[in-house]
Formats: sequence, C-alpha cells, structure tokens
Amino acid sequence: MSILSWDDFEDDSQKPTTPEHKSAPVQSEKASDSQNVSTAQPSSPSMAAPQSAGTHSVRPTVASDTVARAAQALEHLDVAPGLEELEMGAQRVQVDDKAMINCRADLNQLVPFKYEWAWQKYLDGCANHWMPQEVNMNHDIALWKSENGLTEDERTIVMRSLGFFSTADSLVANNLVLAIYRHITNPECRQYILRQAFEEAIHTHAYQYCIESLGMDEGEVFNMYREVPSVARKAAWGLKYTQSLTDPNFHTGTPENDQRLLRNLIAFYCVLEGIFFYCGFTQILSMGRRNKMNGVAEQFQYILRDESMHLNFGIDMINQIKIENPHLWTAEFQQEVVQMIVEGTMLEIEYARDTMPRGVLGMNASMMEEYLKFICNRRLSQLGLPEQFAGVTNPFAWMSEMMDLRKEKNFFETRVTDYQTGGALSW
Ligand SMILES: [Fe+2]
Ligand SMILES: [Fe+2]
Repeated sequence: MSILSWDDFEDDSQKPTTPEHKSAPVQSEKASDSQNVSTAQPSSPSMAAPQSAGTHSVRPTVASDTVARAAQALEHLDVAPGLEELEMGAQRVQVDDKAMINCRADLNQLVPFKYEWAWQKYLDGCANHWMPQEVNMNHDIALWKSENGLTEDERTIVMRSLGFFSTADSLVANNLVLAIYRHITNPECRQYILRQAFEEAIHTHAYQYCIESLGMDEGEVFNMYREVPSVARKAAWGLKYTQSLTDPNFHTGTPENDQRLLRNLIAFYCVLEGIFFYCGFTQILSMGRRNKMNGVAEQFQYILRDESMHLNFGIDMINQIKIENPHLWTAEFQQEVVQMIVEGTMLEIEYARDTMPRGVLGMNASMMEEYLKFICNRRLSQLGLPEQFAGVTNPFAWMSEMMDLRKEKNFFETRVTDYQTGGALSW
C-alpha cells in the first residue's frame, strides 16, 4: 500500500506512476494558464487585435472610445435591479430569516450561519481534498495486463464498476448544479453543494484515470450506462428525477413542487449515493483487501470517504426540510418515499446478480442481497421511516470498519488528520 504525502504530491520527481499519466495534467494546466494570461485582456474585438500581437500598442483612438463608453455605462449602473427579488434586500440578514427552501432572504450573505452542520461539512470536505494522480497505478496495470492475473469474474467486476461509476458521478454532478442548487435557498448549504460538485468532478476524473491507466476500451466503459441493462436501469431510474426539475419554469413554493424537490433529493442522496454505490464499492474494496487492483481500490476508498459525507449531508438536508415544512411529509408521501428506497434496493440487487453470477472475492449475490437490504433499512431509519426487511444483518463485518454505518457520522474526523499529514490508507 502506498503512503500518501503532500510532499510527494507536490514533487513531480517523487511521483511513482508512469510519466505520461503524471505529468500530462500538470503540463496542460500550465499551458492553459499561459494561454489565459495571453488572452485575458482582450474582451472586445476592438481590444483584441493589438493585444494578441504581443505588443501594448493599443491605438489611442480605439482605447479612448472604449474607455469613454465604459465610463458612460458605469455612470448609469443601477444597484437596485439585482436586489429586486429579495424581500429583505435593504436589510442585513438575521439567522431567523434563513430557511432551506423558499427563502427570500439575501442568499449572497453566508453569515450569520444557521446550519452549522452544513458549514462544518464544507470544512471537512475541503480538509479531505485529494487528487487521483496521487495514487500509484503501476501494480494495477501489470496485474490487468497479465494473462492470469485476475479471473474472468474479477475482470467483470472491475469493468462493470468503472462502467457504472464513470457516468454515475456525472449524473450526480449534473443533478446538483442543474436541478438542486437553485432550489436550496441557504448559502451555507450551497457552499457545501459547490464543494460536493467539485468532488464529483474529481471522482469522474478518478474513474477516467483508472480507465486510461488500464488501457480499457473507453467507448465500451463510458457507454455501459446506456448499453448494459443492469447499469442502464440504475442510471435511468435516477435520471427521471433530474428531468423532473430541470424545466426552467419549475419553481418551488407549492406543496406539490416542494415534494418534487424532496423526491429528487431522496433519489440522489439516499438511493444513488446511498444504495447504488454500495455493491460496486464493496466488490472493489474486497479486491483491494485481497491485494488485487490496489490502485483502483485506493481510489475507491477515497471516493467512499467523500460519498459517505455526501450521503450524510443529504440526509441532514432532507430532515431539515421536513422539520421546516411538516405539511410536505404526509403519510401518502412517506409511503411513496419508502417505495422509492425499496425500488432502488431492488435495482442494486439486480446489479449484484448481474456482476456476480458465481461466488467471487469471498462473496456472492445472495450475501450482497442481504447486505443491500440491511443498507435499505438503514436509509429508511435515517429518514424516520419504517424498516422494510425484518431480521437482516450485515454479512460484511469488514465493511463496517471501512464504510461503516455507525461510523458514517464520524468516519472523516478519524481520517482527516491522517490525510493532512500524509497518512496511509490501511485495509
Ligand atoms: Fe461521487
Ligand atoms: Fe457523491
């Protein structure tokens, strides 16, 4: 298991993976920076020509015209229009003005905080920052390319996991920024959502990095969410909730529409991130415990750490909306939510059967089914809903140590310090 260290990360010569994988992003970032610098100034066609020639010989007549027009435009800048929608635009925000949804207070004022938990999760997320290139993939590349390194069933699990997750995190990111963000009317929660969106980008990057490192057929992997039924059905189930909110004319503020938002939050935070990730995570982490595909498994462990926090944030947010809007949480709606979570569990069980036609890595589909029912009960109880599968237990005791349900609340606090000082992940 490699030791992660920020010193190693910052020093290119210390990086253990192949140069083409390590240096390319850095070079491209530098290249794009320099491009940005050279093209940053011209913002109008009249300014662009002299600047792009690499000189500062802006024609005086053009410059003075532009400056005059800019000054004239600023003279007529009215500060009021941007504040028209704010009921309290003329006042400073008070804590009691804040609300999770349908809030009319100024959303640009982060403080005073009302939901300290949201701000704390933002800080914890930032403290857990990591990048995929930190992980050494050499052992994985050798194992993946060797004739007898992995069994066919193990290869299927790696392919399916990368196939599902490479697009699933993109679905989550798109849902955050295109569907959820504008309807959550609290700045400290929005701050966390912005952090989460970046983490989802890092996760998609991590899967791409694994796929590229292993030399997989990128078209095959990235199209599984459309072409492999057990993957496609999970993606399609989530996508319909995103589509429900992306209509630009959709606004919260009625019980029906507020419930639509809640459905989306439950579908994505509790089912996609809270159930759909669990079979694949368990399979890949089990592989890592057997000293196979360590690099992929290490990436998944970092992702799991982020995902556990996304899940907890989502559940806190949903429960807070329930507290502030008890009229939304009707008996009928609760029944619908229970069904959504059971549907998600059934889709994940289908995925487990598809990816594990036989026993593999010390597990099989019926053990995974028991585990997923156990997770389903957990999600329901986190939302204050009745458990649906009596008598199920957790068959993967080792998973309790790694992504544990009891530890979901404090998993990060135990890891943050280690990570910041260059700690190692242990299996
Ligand atoms: Fe993610
Ligand atoms: Fe996530």
